[in-house]
Amino acid sequence: MFGEQKVSFSGVQPSGNLTIGNYLGAIRNFSEYSEKYKTFYCVVDQHAITVRQVPADLRRRTYETLALYMACGLDPNKNTLYVQSMVHEHAELAWILNCFTMFGELSRMTQFKDKSARHADNINAGLFTYPTLMAADILLYQTDVVPVGIDQKQHVELCRDIAERFNQLYPGTFTVPEPIMAKHGMKIMSLAEPTKKMSKSDENANAVVYILDDRDTIIRKFKRAVTDSGSEIRYDVNEKPGVSNLMTIYSCFTGKSIEEIEREFDGRGYGDFKLAVGEATADALAPVQADFRAYMSDKAGLEAQMKKGTEEASWYACRTLSKVAKKLGFVQVR
Ligand code: TYM
Repeated sequence: MFGEQKVSFSGVQPSGNLTIGNYLGAIRNFSEYSEKYKTFYCVVDQHAITVRQVPADLRRRTYETLALYMACGLDPNKNTLYVQSMVHEHAELAWILNCFTMFGELSRMTQFKDKSARHADNINAGLFTYPTLMAADILLYQTDVVPVGIDQKQHVELCRDIAERFNQLYPGTFTVPEPIMAKHGMKIMSLAEPTKKMSKSDENANAVVYILDDRDTIIRKFKRAVTDSGSEIRYDVNEKPGVSNLMTIYSCFTGKSIEEIEREFDGRGYGDFKLAVGEATADALAPVQADFRAYMSDKAGLEAQMKKGTEEASWYACRTLSKVAKKLGFVQVR
């Protein structure tokens, strides 16, 4: 809550090509808050460097992520869209919050455990304190709601604990945020291993459908998707994780309920169903892709939006950081 206004905040890392998991679990839901809330949606490039990045790729993806935000319906006049590293208060508050976050808490984060297993040669301190930077992102804007996929819920819960701890010592500092997850789509699974999350860093490109994949690629990937034994199109996450995941994706893109989908494909085989999921996905993404291309062709326009977003975000971030500094006893003579 900033003054009288409720706030929504979220972020996406420009660490790989964005997937339909990012779209359905997060970005698509961001615009829901644009009318009633003050909304901040950030491209979190500082989080991305917790694993090694090629600078030119990071730069390109930062532009692409901003363009995708807009292509997914986020109007920059109604939402503050910006890049994390351009607002220095994020890193400053992260340092402060590090001093209010326990080693044990960070050690328990599943993402840290997963990523340190995958990047065993680079278990850096930033990977470990990643969640305090994320808490800083959220708390700087006095955020009420954080729309995310389920994999980020644990981080938002830690952010709540940090905010509550800080507020107990220094009352009235932060709004305590809540994670908000889409009813369907909060966990889109890999097409190759449907018990594993679909991830932009997956090395198997056939396991992942990217938002920018062309129509033929999308249809081909769904045709190859792993399904389960039997031939029935029935929702059962334990017995039929592959089919259930495809049903969730189809439901998200068509708006049809799971029961409707079961009826629609009653007596039909996996082949028909996979083709329908591929076509529905390609149809839904086509306008997003067209808008994306238009935004990307105007680099100066994107940079103007970044600048505008940075100015807006900085105003709010600066207010919160100076409140925190005062509470902590930092001298501020300007
Ligand atoms: P990131 O970049 O990994 O993912 C961006 C958003 O997409 C969601 N998501 C998924 N949802 C459903 N199914 C999937 N397979 C799937 N994969 C990803 C994520 O949950 C996320 O909402 N730490 C964050 C970025 C971040 C952030 C923040 C988010 C930094 N600061 C502050 C919220 C608030 C991350 O790595 O997201």
